[in-house]
Amino acid sequence: MNLFTTKTQSSLREKFTHMRFFETIDSTNEKCKHLCRNCGEFNWVVIANQQTKGRGRYGRIWESQLGSNIYLSFALKNSFKSNIAQLNLYLGVMLFKSIACLYPELKNLTTKWPNDLYIGDKKVAGILIENVSNDLDWIVVGIGINVYSSPNDIPATATSLTMQNCNSSENMRSKIIVEILKNVHQDAEDNYNDEFWKCSKVTQQKEYTYTKRDKVCLGILKKLNNDGSIVIETKEGMIDIFC
Ligand code: BTN
Repeated sequence: MNLFTTKTQSSLREKFTHMRFFETIDSTNEKCKHLCRNCGEFNWVVIANQQTKGRGRYGRIWESQLGSNIYLSFALKNSFKSNIAQLNLYLGVMLFKSIACLYPELKNLTTKWPNDLYIGDKKVAGILIENVSNDLDWIVVGIGINVYSSPNDIPATATSLTMQNCNSSENMRSKIIVEILKNVHQDAEDNYNDEFWKCSKVTQQKEYTYTKRDKVCLGILKKLNNDGSIVIETKEGMIDIFC
């Protein structure tokens, strides 16, 4: 499977020297970690057309049907080190900007803490960060984007770009992947609180759903603290939530 023209591939290889495409794989994150660990080189990008064991955060399954969505993983030098909250915000902002720039028609596009991407109140993309090594020097960032389809079992809370009437084109997936890889910086180390807050306006205007010990709860998103945690106002009062 190859989504890119030779020209696009060579321009991407200036940043990510090693790139692998798979028709079917268990998980692009798993493969990317394996390649980094076994080759001693870290500039890997792994893309698949289908995953048989796609994973989400908290050990959830990430439905990964053939040819319908984006399953992308890349290794990143972790310049945030122990500041995982900022790493999450950085990636959330980067993903938001990549999609917003390609599809300005998506007026309700929003980040949802810590790094999800939503359209209104439906999830369209998620990010799974995993360590390559114990020293946290390198991490693997796995991005799943619902382009043509969304999980059948959760139609009320998930959507896809085409279901939201994005200007669809045949090479939509490659355009999005190129945009993301263009926007990733190996040396990002800033404070992304303000940018993240701006990108998550839509979530501040309505009831906010969040999960606490696997229970779905409702509140109002009040603010993002300096340490990257969020404050939610519930019927019982204010609560802080950490990554
Ligand atoms: C989440 O929101 O729970 C994170 C979902 C991350 C899914 C992607 S798809 C590509 C990469 N490979 C995986 O097994 N998971 C991530």
